[in-house]
Amino acid sequence: MRRRLKKKVIAYFIIGFIILIALIVSIIMIVNYNKKIHSIPYKLEKLGYQQTEIEFLEEITKEKKYQLTIEDILNRPYHPDFVQFLKEKYFIYNNLERYLAYKEKHKELSTTEVVRFVNVNRDSEYYKNVKMTDISKENLMLVNKYYALDKDFAFDDLVDVSIQHCYGKQKVREEVYDKFKQMFNDAKKENLTIIINSSYRTYDYQENLWNNYARTHDEAWADSYAARAGHSEHQTGLTIDVTTYGVKEQEDFENTDEFTWMSENAHKYGFILRYPKDEENITGYSYESWHYRYVGVDIATKIHEENITFDEYYAFYLDK
Ligand code: DAL
Ligand code: ZN
Repeated sequence: MRRRLKKKVIAYFIIGFIILIALIVSIIMIVNYNKKIHSIPYKLEKLGYQQTEIEFLEEITKEKKYQLTIEDILNRPYHPDFVQFLKEKYFIYNNLERYLAYKEKHKELSTTEVVRFVNVNRDSEYYKNVKMTDISKENLMLVNKYYALDKDFAFDDLVDVSIQHCYGKQKVREEVYDKFKQMFNDAKKENLTIIINSSYRTYDYQENLWNNYARTHDEAWADSYAARAGHSEHQTGLTIDVTTYGVKEQEDFENTDEFTWMSENAHKYGFILRYPKDEENITGYSYESWHYRYVGVDIATKIHEENITFDEYYAFYLDK
């Protein structure tokens, strides 16, 4: 009798123990599930992000690389290009919505191309919504189809270029001339002659130039070769068009030893090729092998190394 009772107690004890374990396991499972569905990776996954994208998003939000928080990301619908845009070298956080809108309109473009185009404002039409350029940036001011100068703007330290360095009458900023002379002298040591044949131009001069181009060709042609008045870098006094002996057409400068030398060395004196080949969609102008812009040695060297246009450099590093 006592033995049967003992067996019963043991059986109840075992059953009770199993129920207790099952209860504990269930509670742990519920807690874990609850934790999981409230975790950031789970929420990101539910939105549609892949594991590698989730890791990247967690990392950049932790690093506070942009103003972007994980809540911002969770509050926006999944977009297949979102993470790719964030990974672009020249990604600018404030342009994010513009990148997405431009990509939507131009599905054929890569995210790299979209970032390049939007950074230089190509999502706006040329000469629409023009801003006055920030002249306090001095040698680093941006003048293009979106950024203009006042009709009367001119630096007050323009100097005359000596006849041994130019054709016609030329003026540039004093600092630009000093650097040009160093470049001229170093090129001379290699029997090369760099001659300035256009430099500072007034607003009125540029207006006449553009009007002549438009009259003799058409407006589209004029726009691809010349800036409209107020939009020419030549008005800054920071720009030189160069040539050398024996060059009849400006385009032929590209085939000279002087051009080859400048391609390798101009940045060491602070000059950059402003309108490179095949970058018309970025700079707004056809290739000009002769048009050099002074930005100072440090920035010219960075632009040369990164192999980007000044418009892009300005957007990413200077437009603050
Ligand atoms: N040729 C350049 C774009 C100018 O007219 O300033
Ligand atoms: Zn020029």
